[in-house]
Amino acid sequence: MRILANQTLDKIGQEIELCGWIDKIRSHGKIIFLDLRDRSGIIQLVATNERIRVGLEDVVTVKGRVKKRPENLINPKLMTGTIEIEVIKLITLTIAKDLPFPINTDGYEINEEIRSKYRYLDIRRPRMIKNLRLRSQVTTFIRNFLTAQDFVEIETPLLTKTTPEGARDFIVPSRLQRGKFYALPQSPQQYKQLLMVAGVERYFQIVRCFRDEDPRADRAYGEFTQLDMELSFVSQEDILRLTEDMFTQVISKIFPDKYISQVPWPRIPHKIAKEKYGTDKPDIRKNKQDPNELAFSWTLDFPLFTQQSQKDYYYGSGNSKFAPSHHMFTAPHPDDVPLLEENPMKVRGLQHDLVLNGYEVGGGSIRIHDSKVQEKIFELIGFTPRQKQQFEHMLTAFTYGVPPHGGIAPGIDRFMMAVLGEPSVREVMAFPTSASGQTSVMDAPSQVTEKQLAELGLILGIN
Ligand code: AMO
Repeated sequence: MRILANQTLDKIGQEIELCGWIDKIRSHGKIIFLDLRDRSGIIQLVATNERIRVGLEDVVTVKGRVKKRPENLINPKLMTGTIEIEVIKLITLTIAKDLPFPINTDGYEINEEIRSKYRYLDIRRPRMIKNLRLRSQVTTFIRNFLTAQDFVEIETPLLTKTTPEGARDFIVPSRLQRGKFYALPQSPQQYKQLLMVAGVERYFQIVRCFRDEDPRADRAYGEFTQLDMELSFVSQEDILRLTEDMFTQVISKIFPDKYISQVPWPRIPHKIAKEKYGTDKPDIRKNKQDPNELAFSWTLDFPLFTQQSQKDYYYGSGNSKFAPSHHMFTAPHPDDVPLLEENPMKVRGLQHDLVLNGYEVGGGSIRIHDSKVQEKIFELIGFTPRQKQQFEHMLTAFTYGVPPHGGIAPGIDRFMMAVLGEPSVREVMAFPTSASGQTSVMDAPSQVTEKQLAELGLILGIN
């Protein structure tokens, strides 16, 4: 039966079987040293058989005997450095061509498009596989943490109607209803609020979100993952505390080398953040050279509205001055509701942004649960009757007994990037879309057949 490299240490003298990839080859006359790599790590094989013919990255299965290494040959850098495997039989299962790039470096020096084209090889790189493993540990921890606190994980549709989060939508043509389109969700914002009307009270989902916006180092193009959460009968304070508790535990359990430098996390009013740091996501680390310092903070008291500009093409008829600074479901600060009539730009919103080392790693708010206030916001944004009609389902749902509710959505990719100090979100994603919008390996977007277009009733205006 096959065992892993890291299960060999206590099997000195025993015959064992290993499987994996050839990571290194060193020939010393009649003796050949091979490093074998499996998911647990690397182990040295020693063979005297001259007929052994293997190449780098070939996949092999090995029968061998575990031997203690002599004191002077111990390799302290290797997890299995005190032993080696004397090969009895080695079978090559598949042969590998020369790889297009080295995988024993950290990979930053290699052109990103080539890495993306051969992402399945890029992931063999120890740094990449480590990032993906840590990401999986983080999401598993979060799932267990929230489930233990009575949260329900619920999947919401991906073929849906446009969700206004301020970015451009990806749209999907309908075959059954020609001329109509689904939109991929920019976030499950409306569904999670509907789940509160449904009485779920505590919802979460580790969910893919889709936004057609220009990529940046901390912003994936196309799709990214949120930990989406929503709770009923809570105050903003409850949401901040729960989030703080959860991420504090994530850091101590999964990143023991890292430390949170300021506890409790500072809460900075938006106005102060702008005045003092010139940004609403300040990097408040005490020592920016220290890779293990994590400085979390909350930015609060955002203005409910920003000045509507050309880029807020989504919102309103273009005749309004106001665009939501978070999204249109964020509740105004209760003390400021009268200002909605007199001076909307002075109204603060119950928005909370989670900031880590200068990155916005999460955003959320207490929501509006009063249909009248919601309609007032639509009006201030300058919604046309047709635009209002698009949200009729929310207003209708709210007429059937809606609990006060609120939530938050930390971005998993951005959180991982910030904690690991990676230069881009793409370094913590398995198959990221490149900055030019090309998907890894599969090279989408691609053309479709005339038949597919005809079924959808589409005629292309551009070739
Ligand atoms: P928001 O739009 O602020 O809020 O998004 C929440 C978090 O998602 C992450 N994020 C991204 N990560 C990588 N690439 C992107 N393109 C990208 N866009 C956003 C960020 C951000 O803080 N529905 C609301 C949440 C709520 O109100 O509960 C929402 O989506 O870390």
